Amino acid sequence: MNGVARRMQRIAPFYVMDLLAQARRLEAGGRSIIHMEIGEPDFDTPAPVIAAGQAALASGKTHYTPATGLPALCEVIAGFYREVCQTELDPQRVIVTPGASGALQLVMSVLINPGESVLMADPGYPCNRHFVELVEGRPVALPVGPETGYQLTAEWVEEAWREETKAVLVASPSNPTGTLIADDEMQRLYATVQRLGGVLIVDEIYQGLVYDVVGGTALRYGDDLFVINSFSKFFGMTGWRLGWLVAPESFIDPLDRLAQNIFLSAPTLSQFAALSAFSPAVMEILEQRRQAFRQRRDFLLPVLRELGFSIPVTPQGAFYLYAGCNGISDDSQVLAQQLLQEAGVAVTPGLDFGFNRPQSHLRFAYTTDLERLEEGVERIRRFLSG
Ligand SMILES: Cc1ncc(COP(=O)(O)O)c(C=O)c1O
Repeated sequence: MNGVARRMQRIAPFYVMDLLAQARRLEAGGRSIIHMEIGEPDFDTPAPVIAAGQAALASGKTHYTPATGLPALCEVIAGFYREVCQTELDPQRVIVTPGASGALQLVMSVLINPGESVLMADPGYPCNRHFVELVEGRPVALPVGPETGYQLTAEWVEEAWREETKAVLVASPSNPTGTLIADDEMQRLYATVQRLGGVLIVDEIYQGLVYDVVGGTALRYGDDLFVINSFSKFFGMTGWRLGWLVAPESFIDPLDRLAQNIFLSAPTLSQFAALSAFSPAVMEILEQRRQAFRQRRDFLLPVLRELGFSIPVTPQGAFYLYAGCNGISDDSQVLAQQLLQEAGVAVTPGLDFGFNRPQSHLRFAYTTDLERLEEGVERIRRFLSG
């Protein structure tokens, strides 16, 4: 008997996890592997945040918090928007969640009725379509390319809008392309979605990791949208499972009710630790890391281009380069396997990010130090010329 619910047929695995497992097996057998497949910072959580977590544990902060998060943390997050993004925000509109993943799950659940659709960019973060599927909604993946910086535009959204469309989900910077939505385009997107009677959801999980421009927030453009963020990437806290959501006021009560039911609260220990995440000492550490990521991007981007990968738009954020590999192989999955097995370099094939020419793309994550990246590039160079 197969008792697994039918909806699970539409939930695809993360292929990169298979690749990572293969890489780990090779390493266990003595091979050296350069990891450029992993979508999390190589840096550990900043020491002051760890110390705050330890102090919280030692003082017995081991109980549930309110479902929407510690009020003090919501205040600190609102303070971050005030100081860093010059955006006033009522802390009551902040909901602390188990990662951006928890926030995405909450938003889709309170927003999407069965049969309603959510527009999103392809390539994009693969879990997004699954969050929509879980609530019996319809994810609609719109192919995007270099002409629009691999992002949706107001025009594209308007053209794709149908009666059953309820929301648009964008990420700026994006995973896997690292590209941003410019401020004026974000403003147009917000206005267009409002006019069409829908809801804009902006995933800003890489908001602190931008390199050539000042990081902003879509909250500047109005109150009727959802903004998602997380302590995972910029703050180096993936394993603490902590993120947040800023929601329109009318959604706070349903979000609170649902969070009470499915999470009770985000991890208490992590919330107490995160209270120190915006302190000047931590911000200084995070700024140094941002500079290190920028240095890695500035190294990797030109050398990959030189090796024959096509990266037509300079990614201004996150820690990813989404590279066309048409000139090198007609199957990115085969190429990723060859790079792993023959060159000892792990990268992610496009398949993980959607259906828009995945066989022609690889994602390189610069989540490893410059020296290892240089070694990785040398290995790829040798492989391609061998
Ligand atoms: C665009 C994007 N959104 C959301 C997430 C989920 O992050 P977390 O749940 O760790 O906050 C990720 C993780 O890779 C991501 O890349």
